[in-house]
Amino acid sequence: MNYTTGVTLKKTAVTITNHLSGIGSDAVKEEILEGLRSHPKYISSKFFYDKTGSELFKKITTLEEYYPTRTEKIILFSLGDGLNIDFRDLNIIELGSGDHSKIRLLLSHIPGPVLPTVHYYPVDISQSAILNATEKLLEEFPVLHIEGIVADFVHQLDLVPSVRKRLFCFFGSTIGNFGKNLTKRFLQHLGKLMKPGDHFLLGLDMVKDAEVLEKAYQDAQGVTAAFNKNILNVVNHLAGTDFDPALFEHVAFYDRENRKIEMHLRALRDMTVSAHPENNPISIARGEMIHTENSHKFNTRQIDEMATWAGLQTERIFTDRNKWFSLVHFRK
Ligand code: AVJ
Repeated sequence: MNYTTGVTLKKTAVTITNHLSGIGSDAVKEEILEGLRSHPKYISSKFFYDKTGSELFKKITTLEEYYPTRTEKIILFSLGDGLNIDFRDLNIIELGSGDHSKIRLLLSHIPGPVLPTVHYYPVDISQSAILNATEKLLEEFPVLHIEGIVADFVHQLDLVPSVRKRLFCFFGSTIGNFGKNLTKRFLQHLGKLMKPGDHFLLGLDMVKDAEVLEKAYQDAQGVTAAFNKNILNVVNHLAGTDFDPALFEHVAFYDRENRKIEMHLRALRDMTVSAHPENNPISIARGEMIHTENSHKFNTRQIDEMATWAGLQTERIFTDRNKWFSLVHFRK
């Protein structure tokens, strides 16, 4: 069942439409248990982000070793008038809007008189994230029109408004969590959905020195380790399991050949995890690994490949001085 919540903040109305309520939790439980019964075991990285997980990720983005967020923000901050987009009457659709700290950098390049003609549509699976962030955003840009969409944009991409003059934004190299097949399907879908005159800004973490990459996922303070282990708390909550996160250690390494960071949880001893009441217990051997994340890194050849999949033109690639991160401007 879909429902619409009208929420009035300050003098401006923010509409939030929730397309997720009612999606069965039985399916989620089944999906998680299927991964835990596989060989090797895995948990989808989309389950990292409960309240604690989101807070831990936010802490990761402030770590010295974790360069991606900082670098992408520098690129967004430095765009100036380099972005070849007419902002008048623009409809900005941000996929996975999170805390909105990136869109505010983009919005800051829009001239004051043009801002009232701009519509912003944050799309996120977390209604509370959209609510909190739109409130803050309106303090900074009171004339902005905002319509929040609570949805899983990977599976519900058709829900985005079919207005004209759209700018799709997908920041954070989140696409790096997808495998090749999903990336291709997602870009084909988005490319088909886009109309001539629409734009797409995609944030991509680039291939670099393995040492820099591995440090970003094995920070000295152990915040990434805590983030990784917290996925077991989320799983306990969603699938009714009784994992003890303290019985696992954080593993992260760079796979050069496939250009991706892999994250795993390695069992420190033999154990049995119950998935009560009706499911068989899950046996885990000491040393066994549960895969929790792939974080792909990209190069320019793959940007070309993405443009081909989506049927889009690459207008410009913005990057930082180290070429560690790219913001790709595609157009149809
Ligand atoms: C949010 C998917 C971009 O892959 O770098 C951070 C998540 N995992 N540290 C990434 C993450 C471990 C992050 N993304």
